[in-house]
Amino acid sequence: MHRFLILIGFLIIKTRLETVCPAESSNEKCSKLLSNLTIGSMENLDIEAAEALNKTCFELVDCYAEIDCEQAQKNKTFYQNLCERKELEMFETEACIKTFHSERKGKSFECMKDFEFFSKDESVRREAYTSGKSCFLEVTQNCSDLSINFIGKRFSHLVSIMARKTDEKSCEPIQDKLLSSQCSWELTELYDELTKQQTHALKSQIKGIVMQNLTEMCQDSKICLSTGCHVTERLTPVSEMCDNLNTPKQKLSNCLKSLVYSTDTLKKYKCTNMSDAKPNWYGSHSIEAYMFLTDKECVKTLIKAECEESIMEGIDEHWTEVGRVMAGASTN
Ligand SMILES: *[C@@H]1O[C@H](CO)[C@@H](O)[C@H](O)[C@H]1NC(C)=O
Ligand SMILES: *[C@@H]1O[C@H](CO)[C@@H](O)[C@H](O)[C@H]1NC(C)=O
Ligand SMILES: *[C@@H]1O[C@H](CO)[C@@H](O)[C@H](O)[C@H]1NC(C)=O
Ligand SMILES: *[C@@H]1O[C@H](CO)[C@@H](O)[C@H](O)[C@H]1NC(C)=O
Ligand SMILES: *[C@@H]1O[C@H](CO)[C@@H](O)[C@H](O)[C@H]1NC(C)=O
Ligand SMILES: *[C@@H]1O[C@H](CO)[C@@H](O)[C@H](O)[C@H]1NC(C)=O
Repeated sequence: MHRFLILIGFLIIKTRLETVCPAESSNEKCSKLLSNLTIGSMENLDIEAAEALNKTCFELVDCYAEIDCEQAQKNKTFYQNLCERKELEMFETEACIKTFHSERKGKSFECMKDFEFFSKDESVRREAYTSGKSCFLEVTQNCSDLSINFIGKRFSHLVSIMARKTDEKSCEPIQDKLLSSQCSWELTELYDELTKQQTHALKSQIKGIVMQNLTEMCQDSKICLSTGCHVTERLTPVSEMCDNLNTPKQKLSNCLKSLVYSTDTLKKYKCTNMSDAKPNWYGSHSIEAYMFLTDKECVKTLIKAECEESIMEGIDEHWTEVGRVMAGASTN
């Protein structure tokens, strides 16, 4: 028994690194590389400068790797991660991946439909990038010279990054950064449509802004957002927005907003005290326009006449959350 413990103790000592690093003089080479690295700026580089900086960075990693002590090995790991990040940054890879992701729906490139670049499963992603290389190259052909250079030389490295598991807890690793743009397409389309409908409703001063059916777009976005890491963070606001599109509360809010923005409508009602108000530009609103919100009877009169009938049903329930809040927003 004792012998066994001694043996284990011996093995632990044997495999542990020297904790004390050799004096600075013996790693002068690393310090020089480090100082060369910190001189250069990492932005707006040409290919030659980026390559030189990238080379120095990985030489630093190799330099620390050769020193057999704890702090040096820690440095090695630290700079390994840093250099990988900086390489992607210097060669403008993130922007290029974003371009690639914007083709998610395969609108311009049929080949996008043939590979599962967006799979939640990292081994499926690996397979997609490997067998779909020519498709990837076709879609990214207009990326910057720097990123084209990177892709040309480092494609298999890129594949290995894209095929890493995401870290759902920290969302820190580079793969998560690169993967984070994969739902941009859905979200852009959803927000565009929402904004378009809101603008249209305000412009035409129709009776309350009632969202058209965005259910399908919401569903697309939710599915996409549930398969990522950074993207999952954005799921909650999108879900909330989608779930609230046609609730009585949202309708009340939309109706009141459209009234506040429509001086012409407000002028028609005595209780608003706005008969003398000058017409406003579309999209602008005055402090006085909010005053009717302080008078619930007045609000009810306007809703009854100007907005969708069903909105009246929810008014007592949602008044405090919606009307009061809007009225409050005008006075402070
Ligand atoms: C640091 O940069 C200088 C000037 O570019 C170069 O001469 C030197 O060899 C570099 N040092 C290392 C360790 O790479
Ligand atoms: C580790 O890196 C730091 C700079 O980040 C440096 O000052 C230190 O000397 C390095 N340690 C070793 C053992 O090389
Ligand atoms: C790349 O640019 C060319 C010329 O501007 C254009 O015709 C082509 O459609 C672009 N390709 C992509 C993938 O955007
Ligand atoms: C960056 O440096 C590493 C290590 O020297 C090398 O393998 C890689 O090809 C370089 N990347 C680019 C884009 O030149
Ligand atoms: C909204 O659209 C979806 C899909 O087109 C459909 O299934 C759903 O019934 C629609 N809902 C409403 C309230 O119109
Ligand atoms: C309108 O003016 C009357 C009389 O000055 C006042 O009592 C009432 O609170 C005002 N209503 C609004 C909505 O400002």
